[in-house]
Amino acid sequence: MTRSISRTDRFAGRVHLPADKSVAHRAALFAAIANGSSILHNFPPSADPQSTLSCLRQLGVSIETSTDSSVIIHGVGRGGFSAPDAPLDCGNSGTTMRLLSGVLAGQPFSSELAGDASLSSRPMERIARPLRTMGATISLTDGHAPIRIQPCDNLTGIHYKLPVPSAQVKSCVLLAGLWAKGHTIVYETIRSRDHTERMLNLTIRSSTEGRTIHSDSSHIVPHGTFTLPGDFSAAAFILVAASIAGTAPVHMSGVGLNPSRTGLLTVLRRMGADIQISNRRTSGVEPTGDLSVRRKSLHGIMVGGDEIPNVIDEIPIIAVAGAFAKGMTIIRDAIELRYKECDRIRAIVTNLRALGAEVEEFEDGLAVTGMVPLNGTKVSSYDDHRIAMAMGVAAMGAHGTTTIEDAQAASVSFPEFWDTIAALQA
Ligand code: S3P
Repeated sequence: MTRSISRTDRFAGRVHLPADKSVAHRAALFAAIANGSSILHNFPPSADPQSTLSCLRQLGVSIETSTDSSVIIHGVGRGGFSAPDAPLDCGNSGTTMRLLSGVLAGQPFSSELAGDASLSSRPMERIARPLRTMGATISLTDGHAPIRIQPCDNLTGIHYKLPVPSAQVKSCVLLAGLWAKGHTIVYETIRSRDHTERMLNLTIRSSTEGRTIHSDSSHIVPHGTFTLPGDFSAAAFILVAASIAGTAPVHMSGVGLNPSRTGLLTVLRRMGADIQISNRRTSGVEPTGDLSVRRKSLHGIMVGGDEIPNVIDEIPIIAVAGAFAKGMTIIRDAIELRYKECDRIRAIVTNLRALGAEVEEFEDGLAVTGMVPLNGTKVSSYDDHRIAMAMGVAAMGAHGTTTIEDAQAASVSFPEFWDTIAALQA
């Protein structure tokens, strides 16, 4: 599907966001591991969390869905998964594959995890290595999926220092720790998103050098009723669109505001954005609130260092914001972006250049000179949801019409994205 977006002269209103996909994967997975049933309200229709649900069904978990977006998951307990009779299809979802590998490493049956072309090109040694140290037998295909996991009933806990600040790797190891003998301790020096430790209620110790998170086989996995918060990473596209093209405030309510996810607020405010937060509350263990954003002229800044993991999914849209900001926006220390659903540094540089922007590419980031007039043309989503949506926002500020190819990729995390921006423009 292609989507054509013209320069916007109206952008205002209220947005209904999909639920946070990082939280949704975990809520489903942890509910399945728990003893007892859980009701998850506001479960998103987005393709990635739906991949997690279908993998859990393949593992024998009973899941009921209803028309009001609630999902009831009947937890099977630590010993209740059944052997899948076919490879588990994780679709495009790295979180499904990496977190589920942690769960499957200590099961008494063999399993295979597969994904689409994009997921099959993403690095998986980063999870296989610590799982093997715990005693799992895992084979990859040239460092990638398909992942084959052999039966194992004797995982041993490890102390593991994360070599990359990755919440997926952290969560994978902590989950395997739920089936391991002894303690598993993951040590992170740079903080990555903390949904796993919050939602599992794991023990965390923090010091000036970093944090340790502990899991073991006696840990009780919580279950119950949980309303999933709106996805801050989906809100990110609207925050930037309204900052550069808004004609009146744009409001979003019930947005997840977990501090390990909201680095973009700091970044956009540093650029001069006008974003207000009200009605702060919590949804289960996750902080939420309402956001209002109005147009404001932005200026270029430097983004890098330890703040990168907190904005890792927002960098494509930060680059777009930079294209409409006065001066230069420089993003460094973000080499991880090359291992996402596509090489996001290359994708954003190529697309912004196609629109006429002045962009320099670095191995670990990019520099974009703002306020160079952009002109609509054909760009690609590279089959990556965040590139599709970032280009949709860039199109709103470009002269003429921009055509985004493979725009359906947005449905991985924000199926209503194109209809939402059309409604705000109407
Ligand atoms: C995620 C963690 C991040 C992020 C991804 C979702 C998660 O990946 O980019 O979209 O839910 O744990 P890494 O942890 O690999 O950086």
